[in-house]
Amino acid sequence: MAMAGSAIGLGNIWRFPYMVGQYGGAVFIVVYLTACIFLSLPILLSESIIGRSTQSGTFGAMEKLAPGTAWKWLGLLTVFSPLIILSFYSVVGGWSIEYLWQSVTSGFGDDVSTLFGSFISAPWGALACHTIFLALTAIIVLAGVKSGIEKFNKVSLPVLFILIIVIMVYSLNLPGASSGVSYMLKPDFSKLTPSVVAAAMGQSFFSLSLGVGTILTYSSYMKKSDNILTTGLGSAGFDLLFALLAGFAIMPAVFAAGIEPGAGPGLIFETLPFIFAKMGAAAPVVSRIVSILFFVTIVIAALTSSISMCEVGVAYLVEEKGMSRLKATLLIFAGTWTLGTLCSLSFGPLSEVHLFGDTIFDFCDKLTSNYLMTFGSLLFVLFVGWKMDRAAVCREFTNNGTLRANSFLFGLLYFLIRYIAPVVILIIFVTSL
Ligand code: PFF
Repeated sequence: MAMAGSAIGLGNIWRFPYMVGQYGGAVFIVVYLTACIFLSLPILLSESIIGRSTQSGTFGAMEKLAPGTAWKWLGLLTVFSPLIILSFYSVVGGWSIEYLWQSVTSGFGDDVSTLFGSFISAPWGALACHTIFLALTAIIVLAGVKSGIEKFNKVSLPVLFILIIVIMVYSLNLPGASSGVSYMLKPDFSKLTPSVVAAAMGQSFFSLSLGVGTILTYSSYMKKSDNILTTGLGSAGFDLLFALLAGFAIMPAVFAAGIEPGAGPGLIFETLPFIFAKMGAAAPVVSRIVSILFFVTIVIAALTSSISMCEVGVAYLVEEKGMSRLKATLLIFAGTWTLGTLCSLSFGPLSEVHLFGDTIFDFCDKLTSNYLMTFGSLLFVLFVGWKMDRAAVCREFTNNGTLRANSFLFGLLYFLIRYIAPVVILIIFVTSL
């Protein structure tokens, strides 16, 4: 559940729908599904195999399996990548807090179309919410996440599923929703370009938290008797299902509201309030309750993911640098708050500052999900497929040969890890560069 909690987050509710809108609708979804099954799952299992076999975080794992080699740089890279993600992720987490506040205090009315634009460009509110979100993350990490997070996820994930289904049913019944449904279901293959493939792959890595050591670190806490395959399949399956449900909740409403599907990062913050405002006209109390619950759940889903990113950095500083948990958490908080502040301001006062043609926020997003996560994933599959001993990988994956289904599937998985995944990632990576 904790692994699924790390996977399910803003990536599913916020990022997936707007990527679908920006990259051509159903064709993006087809590539995304293919990437999840043939690429992301083998990567996820590779990270799990490294983590559980060493029972260490990213840096320690590389030191144990390949001591004194350049692989330690992979360990270091995966300490920094999740922190860059955390910086811009907490900005969006902050937007969710602001929307929760708005749901609690006044609900959504006629001003929904201008609400988002005015909130993100006026710096103070967005910065305050970013700070609150990051502080919540740091407090939970500081308190120790293991038992709390696991229990918390067991309750919050089912609630999240129920709520997204309620919103989806409502959204599918809005007038004009059917155009959104066809947009999600009818692929137009003339829109298939290398950048669609790269974006779908990047999104599947982002959504499953791959290539940045989070899955590895969580797997290092798994018991030797746990089944790596079923845990991985469960996390990936829930994650995929949640993304699709979110897509069918958001896209029909986007079309019903007449919003441009390629609107980018603001998409859900413009669409959901529209649904809630419409609901509110007919049933104000129900609308209020659903919108509060919905934004509470988005915040919770975002927190279960942000904690996992923060934990990778904190674990590194505590385990490898001997820092206290308090000092490590404060250091991570300070660094990610600073970068996150620049990301937040890139929607307002810093909107003219561009790095390689993108605003600071977009740059951090693209750098991590299109490049660092891809690069990290490539190195993880190469490590398991070419550096680790095949027999050791098999033992870990099959719990010493005791799991029949895993033994049966091992040949296929190993083939995907050793040959297919590296070649495909490399081709897409080079093409998108
Ligand atoms: N998978 C998370 C989401 O979909 O929101 C985002 C994420 C979490 C990315 C943890 C990276 C990470 F290390």
